[in-house]
Amino acid sequence: MGSEPRSVSIEGAAQVLRPPRDRMQHLRGPSELNAQTVAPRDLAVRDGAIAGLHPDGRAELRIDASGCAVIPGFVDCHTHLPFAGWRAGEYEQKLTGVPYEEISRSGGGIKSSARALASMTDEQVLAQATALASEMLATGTTTFECKSGYGLSREAELRALALARELAGLVPQTTLSTALLAHSIPDGYDAGSWMVVVEEMMPSVLALGTVSALDIFVESIAFGLQELERMGALAAAAGLMLRVHGEQLSCMRSVPVALRAGARSIDHLSQVHVDDIGPLANATCAAVLLPAAEFLGNEQRAPGRALVDAGAIVVLATDANPGTAPVFSIPIVIGLAARLYGFGVLETLGMATLNAAWVLDLAHDRGSIEAGKRADLLVLDGPVDSIAYRFGHNPVQIALIGGVPVYVRDEAAAARLSYTEVA
Ligand code: NIG
Ligand code: FE
Repeated sequence: MGSEPRSVSIEGAAQVLRPPRDRMQHLRGPSELNAQTVAPRDLAVRDGAIAGLHPDGRAELRIDASGCAVIPGFVDCHTHLPFAGWRAGEYEQKLTGVPYEEISRSGGGIKSSARALASMTDEQVLAQATALASEMLATGTTTFECKSGYGLSREAELRALALARELAGLVPQTTLSTALLAHSIPDGYDAGSWMVVVEEMMPSVLALGTVSALDIFVESIAFGLQELERMGALAAAAGLMLRVHGEQLSCMRSVPVALRAGARSIDHLSQVHVDDIGPLANATCAAVLLPAAEFLGNEQRAPGRALVDAGAIVVLATDANPGTAPVFSIPIVIGLAARLYGFGVLETLGMATLNAAWVLDLAHDRGSIEAGKRADLLVLDGPVDSIAYRFGHNPVQIALIGGVPVYVRDEAAAARLSYTEVA
C-alpha cells in the first residue's frame, strides 16, 4: 500500500464542483458564482495535479466517491495564526455586554495576546498552531494565510513572522505569510511614530523571504487613514500586496483610501459606508467577509448580498484568532454566511475556494477543479447544499493535498480508498 500515490482516480462522485469556465481568476456577481456547476463526474489525478475529468482505471489509488460531492480544498485567506493561548475570559465579558473597544482600551484584546506570545517558547507557539492546522485540515482547509500582529515590537513581530515560516514546514497545508505590522499601537508610541518603526523594519521583513503581503487594522482603537496610505506606499515599494482590516467596529471610510493604495482586499466591512459599495464592487480588490467575527462579536452585519449583487469579488474566511473569532472551520463560516448574508451554497463555495485563492495570488494554481491545477480536493459525505444546511456538522470525509490523502475521517472514509500494487 502506497501512502503517496502518483496517480489517483476519484470515481462516481454524485457532484463535482466546477467553475463556469477554466482559467477564471475570480468569480464576481450572482451570474458568475451561480454559473458554477455540480454534476456527477470522475476525476483523474497525476503527480499531484488534476489530470482530467475522467476515471483512471490504472491509478495507484482509487477512491469510491459514490454519493459524495468533490470540491476544491478550502482556502482560508484570513487567519491570525500562529498565536499564543486563548482569551475565553474576554468572550465571557463580551457576552455580558462589555464592548470589544473597552476590553481593548483596558489592556485586553490584542495586547493580551501579545503578552501571551512573549511568554511562550517557540515550541509552545508552534505546538498550538500545528494542532489548529490539523483541526483546519479536518474541516477541509488545504491552504491558509498566517498573520503576525501579536508582536507589538520590532523584535516580536519579526519573531512572529519567523514562526509563521517555521509553521509552513510543519503542516501539510500551503501557508502564506502576511505582516500585520500595524495591528494595535504599541505602548510608548502613537500611530505616526509606530509607522516610522514599521518603515525601518521593512528590510528585515523582506529578508525573511516569505512575506507576501502587508496588513493594517484601520479602526478608532488602532490606526487611521494616514497610516493606511503609508502602509500602501510601503507595500508598493516592496512589491507586496496590501491587505486591510477595515470598517469592522466603526465606519472609517477606509475603502476609498485602500482602493487608491491598490489594496488586494479589504476585510471585515461590517460598517462599510453605502457609498463605498459601488467603488469596491468595481475595483480589482476583494471584499473579504468574516461572519464568525461578526456573529461572535455581535458586530454589525456586512452588506454581503449587496456586495455580491454589485459585482464585488466577495470572499469568505474565518479570521481565526484568539479574540474576535476563535473559529477555524470554513464549513461553519459557510453556514453562517449563507444564513446571515442570504447567500446560496454555490455562491459561498466560490467565495471560499477560487476567490479566496485570488486574494493570496494563487488562483492560477488552485481554488477550482480544472485540469492542470493542484489536486487539493475534498470528498464530502453528502451533497454541497448540506454544508450550510447541516450547520455545525463536518462534511469532510477525505482531504487530498497535491493528490495525497492527508486526512481520512473514519473507517467509512477509509473504506472508500483502494490501493493497487504497481510494478
Ligand atoms: O481581525 N481586527 C483586528 N484584528 C483581529 C482581532 C484581533 C484580536 O482581537 O486578537 C480581527 O478581528
Ligand atoms: Fe483579522
